[in-house]
Amino acid sequence: MKIVLGVSGGIAAYKAALLLRLFTESGHDVTVVPTAAALHFVGAPTWEALSGKPVASDVWSRVEQVPHVRLGKEADLVVVAPATADLLARAANGLADDLLTNVLLTARCPVVYAPAMHTEMWEHPATQANVETLIERGAHVIPPASGRLTGADTGPGRLPEPEDIFAVCRRLLAEHPHPSPTAHRDHPASTAAPVDPATPAAASEPAPAGRDDYSGWRVVVTAGGTREPLDPVRFLGNRSSGKQGYALAARAAARGALVRLISANVSLPVPPDVQVAHVETAQQLQAAVREDAGWADLIIMAAAVADYRPAAYAESKMKKTHEPGQEHAAPTITLVRNPDILAGLVAERGAAAHPVIVGFAAETGEPGKSVLELGQEKLARKGCDLLVVNEVGVDVTFGRDENTVHILRRDGQPQVDVGPAGKEVIADAVLDVARRVLT
Ligand code: CTP
Repeated sequence: MKIVLGVSGGIAAYKAALLLRLFTESGHDVTVVPTAAALHFVGAPTWEALSGKPVASDVWSRVEQVPHVRLGKEADLVVVAPATADLLARAANGLADDLLTNVLLTARCPVVYAPAMHTEMWEHPATQANVETLIERGAHVIPPASGRLTGADTGPGRLPEPEDIFAVCRRLLAEHPHPSPTAHRDHPASTAAPVDPATPAAASEPAPAGRDDYSGWRVVVTAGGTREPLDPVRFLGNRSSGKQGYALAARAAARGALVRLISANVSLPVPPDVQVAHVETAQQLQAAVREDAGWADLIIMAAAVADYRPAAYAESKMKKTHEPGQEHAAPTITLVRNPDILAGLVAERGAAAHPVIVGFAAETGEPGKSVLELGQEKLARKGCDLLVVNEVGVDVTFGRDENTVHILRRDGQPQVDVGPAGKEVIADAVLDVARRVLT
């Protein structure tokens, strides 16, 4: 396949060299088009040696081959990594002042942008508006990862790992084996799904492949179960496998969403096109989800969060006492409450309807109260928009592939019952209902 790798002028340009290697090693024919600024970070000899082709930044080299038109038209995929704020702005405005922006105007194949910049630049309304414009026109934007930036600061803005960018490109190449006109995508604000009451049968239908109803929407999913350390080798944990959260992230990405997955102690492969942040404890999960809350249109709290953590952490391994006469003595572990992350998100959102927040309720039922009654109470207490209630126990749900859930709505619309069904089907049903609430 013919790939154009656009590189714009950011410090992460060096990571594009690794991305280039991934493409060439899997047999693709890659032409690198760096901007003039990118060449300050990584010089032309590196790109030429790694791609085996000459590189140019302006439209005045080898003019007889008309590269400013030919490269874009012949490409099967164009990927810009890193895409700086300046490059996104020029692309969104249709400027054609260097070879890369000419390529972007002539390309009729899938175009992928992997932005990387400082958090302030990424979050600036101008950059966000440019990203929205590009998505609206059919481009694929891989949201930047959170983490350490060039200086001592941290936050969203890091270039995703080359392997993750490569995975998105590989999927797009599989979906679009031949160059085709870039599909127009509706802007999220104009794609509100029809407000038809969901029926259990409809909700449990698997989503048709290739459905794009989440295109451009930003979804944060928490998955897994938190661990609260007692000492360097022990923790208080729970049985959550993370399968449901991972299925939600996978299905949201497959339906076109930009997905950030906050994963607590899950040993599953990260789904394609999903940015992942790994956390261990409830407090770390809270910090990660709060960092992403301003970015998100939809937050799905599928993680099982420990309500309590040990009050004290022993820096070295806790030992049994060997004192004579003390052989049966056992330590007392004092617990303190963890924050209720879901309720906190709802409180911070205040009167705004954005982001839409979905909770999960793992219930075992109790004498005199059914799982559904407990779910209704929890929905009222937490104040989230949807509550996905499932019945749990040692042998039920945790780690299982089949599940039955009831999706309760705060707006009084009828509940949706799904299952027993696989976690992907449940995920699609949850996303179907959430999509109706997203406006
Ligand atoms: N949750 C949370 N923070 C916590 C505990 C739970 O955000 N400290 C979230 C979970 O991610 C889930 C929802 O709240 O989306 C419900 O979790 P569950 O454990 O069922 O509810 P609890 O709040 O623990 O309620 P209870 O102890 O009364 O069952």
